[in-house]
Amino acid sequence: MGTEAVRVAVIGAGRMGRVHVSALSGSRNAEPVAVVDPVAEAREQAAAGGLAAYASLEELLSAGGFDAVLVAAPSDLHLSLVRELAAARVPMLCEKPCGMSADEARAAARAAEETGTLLQIGYWRRFVPELVSLRERIARGDLGEIALVASHQWDRFPPSPEFRAHSGGIAVDMAVHELDQVRWLLGQEIESVVAMAAGRSEPGHAPSDPDAAVALARLSGGTTANITLGRRFGQADSCWIEVFGSEAYERCTFMWAADSERAFLAGLTAQADAFAEAVRGGSLAGAAPEDAVAALSAAERIAEALEQAEESELAGRSA
Ligand SMILES: NC(=O)c1ccc[n+]([C@@H]2O[C@H](COP(=O)([O-])OP(=O)(O)OC[C@H]3O[C@@H](n4cnc5c(N)ncnc54)[C@H](O)[C@@H]3O)[C@@H](O)[C@H]2O)c1
Repeated sequence: MGTEAVRVAVIGAGRMGRVHVSALSGSRNAEPVAVVDPVAEAREQAAAGGLAAYASLEELLSAGGFDAVLVAAPSDLHLSLVRELAAARVPMLCEKPCGMSADEARAAARAAEETGTLLQIGYWRRFVPELVSLRERIARGDLGEIALVASHQWDRFPPSPEFRAHSGGIAVDMAVHELDQVRWLLGQEIESVVAMAAGRSEPGHAPSDPDAAVALARLSGGTTANITLGRRFGQADSCWIEVFGSEAYERCTFMWAADSERAFLAGLTAQADAFAEAVRGGSLAGAAPEDAVAALSAAERIAEALEQAEESELAGRSA
């Protein structure tokens, strides 16, 4: 492939797919050319923006006119889409979590590997300049020995019930970002977790899908990660991380208030640039399939802990 922009088709033109179309439009070496979505309104909106629009992946594959895809369909469709795309040998960037469980992520990784197809995972925070620089300082030892990191993701509003039904719960949907972030920042694996829901959630929520939760993870290098997740922050979607080292403390607030959307879009565009490089034959700079497996494996343990915490609370109340 020459130096022409890599033509990307976005599978799933919902909330995230539309942000990806904008991010791809700002890329230096990739461009959005098509969307796939079964919902006519989503296709009409994409077509009005000059993109080709298809109702199914099969239609896209037979029409052609693209070099790679970005999977932004509901998480419970990631594995089947990755399998179909791998069979067609289409390079892909799949949104997190890349399956609903570590087993599904493993199966996705296998499908890509068996056909030699590029599969990058959409952990976009790996492309946030402030986090890249923090990671370098940690690796150099500037912060000394890291006892504790506190990693926070507080969303403005909860997602729709429809989204929640296909998301796998707060750990599989939200905590995976923090889990990937701490693994990548510190170069440590997650060994054990404890977790509990925080505050009150809407009646009828699944035990593994409260509106807020806290998880503590013990990492392989001795660091403890305190992960807080919230879905009713009221102000813009916000993310920040604090690192407590023996030599220094750092707080990196990379998504906050009025700057939140800009930072998100910039991270996604940088991720798209790196993906396009990999599609052209460069090495994979973002998260790999095994990173999806690691994040989901820890997320599953957080989900189990949330379920157990709710069971013992209910048992305590009825005793
Ligand atoms: N990286 C991030 O920060 C981030 C943020 C939000 C969502 N996400 C991920 O993006 C994915 C989508 O989330 P969303 O918030 O956009 O959900 P959404 O419900 O808003 O959008 C999903 C879209 O996929 C479409 N769809 C359904 N079946 C399809 C199919 N078979 N083929 C193609 N499209 C299909 C739906 O019609 C809908 O338009 C999820 O996996 C989610 O985890 C990632």
